[in-house]
Formats: sequence, C-alpha cells, structure tokens
Amino acid sequence: MDDFTSLSRTIERVVGIRTSQYKEDYIKRRVLSRMRISGKETFKDYHHLLISDDAEKESLKNALTINVTEFFRDPEVFKAVSQKVLPEIIGKQKKIRIWCAGCATGEEAYSYAILVREYMRMNPVDVRIYATDIDSAVLGKAREGTYDIKSLKNLTEQQIRRYFTLREDGRYELKPMVKEDVRFSNHDLTSGIPAARFLDLVSCRNVTIYFNENQKRDLAALFYEALSHDGYYVMGKTEYLLRESEAHFTPVDSIQKIYRKTPI
Ligand SMILES: C[S@@+](CC[C@H](N)C(=O)[O-])C[C@H]1O[C@@H](n2cnc3c(N)ncnc32)[C@H](O)[C@@H]1O
Repeated sequence: MDDFTSLSRTIERVVGIRTSQYKEDYIKRRVLSRMRISGKETFKDYHHLLISDDAEKESLKNALTINVTEFFRDPEVFKAVSQKVLPEIIGKQKKIRIWCAGCATGEEAYSYAILVREYMRMNPVDVRIYATDIDSAVLGKAREGTYDIKSLKNLTEQQIRRYFTLREDGRYELKPMVKEDVRFSNHDLTSGIPAARFLDLVSCRNVTIYFNENQKRDLAALFYEALSHDGYYVMGKTEYLLRESEAHFTPVDSIQKIYRKTPI
C-alpha cells in the first residue's frame, strides 16, 4: 500500500471522514495544504503527526469539510423555489417538510424557514426543516443561530428586523419562531438515509462537488427514496445530475438545477 493510501485509511479511522467516498484529488489537495501549514514534507511524516496530535485531527477535519455559507446563498435559487416550487407544494397541503443536507452553520436551513414564512405571511403553514451535517462543531453554531451582519447581506433591512434581534455585541440572533422551524442533527450523507422520509423538498447544495461518481449516484438514490412521490430536489448551480439518475428526476428549472421526483 502506498503512503497516501495508508494515510487515507487512517483519516477514515481517526478523523471519521470516509475518504473513499470523495474524489482522491480533493482529499490530496486538502492534506497537502495541512502538510504545508504543519511543516511536514511527506505523507508518511504527516501520517505520524495525525496519529499523535488531536489538534491536527480537528484541523484536518475542518479543512476537509469546508463550511463556507451565507443566508440566501445564490439568491436566484431561492427566487426559483419561491416562484416554481412553493406554490405547487403549499397549493395542495398546509404543511411543508424540507431536508437541508450539508447545512454547515445553518444559514441555508434558516433561509428556507424565512422563505416559507415570507411566502405564507398571510396564511401560515406548518413548516418543519430537518438540517443535517457531518460536522458537529458547525451544528453547534447552527443551533445557536447568531450571525455577523456580513452573512445577512442578501436579506432586506425589513427581513432583518422581522426575523433577527440585534444583540449588544453587534451580532444578529434569529428570533425563536424561526429557530423553532429547524431541527439540526449530525448525519453523514455517505451512511444512508436519516429518519425523515416523505419529504416535500431536499436541498443539498455545494456538498457533492467533493464526492466521487459512485457517491453521487448513491446520493441521488438516497434523495429519491427520502422524497414524497413528487417531491423536489434542489441541487444548486455548481453541481450536476449524473446521466443514470436523470430518469429519476424531471427538471423544473434547468439553470438553477431544481428537479422534481419522477413518479414510478
Ligand atoms: C460548503 S458547505 C455548504 C453549506 C450550504 N449547503 C450552502 O450551500 O451554503 C458544505 C457542507 O457539507 C458538509 N459535508 C461534507 N461532507 C459531508 C457528508 N459526507 N455528510 C454530511 N455533510 C457533509 C460539510 O461539513 C459542510 O458543512
């Protein structure tokens, strides 16, 4: 076994990231970046460091699960959901179930909560958003629901006043009514389906770009299973559906990569 393969196996074991499910090149680039920072020149030397140093395990985990996000990231996707998806779902039922997969620090999940509230201001619906991520540190921040003004740049002044409270330390905290719409939990997307099923919408954006083809195929099958018979899959612009998954999802907005489950 070469040094990188051996290191990859150790990463699976001690960092808890299934390296075999990601593109090898992606793992290599992240590891090389940690090697530069920690002054290690070979995979073997870095392997020794990783085994012996808990802080390095944490740093590598952070490097492998980049958590960059913001409220209403790529606003056109949310606009398309509001115009083409919500009327269909809420038109026929008074509840909506959403799974935000790979939610990082919570901004995307809370954006859906705000989007539904804005859409249904006159006639509230029962909304439940399940938000999951592999990284428990980001989930802690997500539950706290407190943000810097820069992550709110896609919200209007009025929306900020309506849904946030400005704290004395200058940070903005989501009001309890929005926090209560979202349930956060730890879940590895490569390990199968979490408890929720019969969902109206699954949103998984800026996550699968790091996955290999097999993993993308499995993930599309997983989302297919988790959705209700005609639920929606919001994939986001940076990602693409594999050819073999195309029969299972019908495009609703090909530019924003929003699909509807094709009933069997
Ligand atoms: C760049 S953030 C995307 C956040 C949000 N979806 C967005 O588009 O703004 C990617 C997130 O995917 C999570 N992630 C990566 N691999 C994962 C896996 N196997 N299972 C669950 N989450 C994963 C990371 O921890 C990270 O928080």
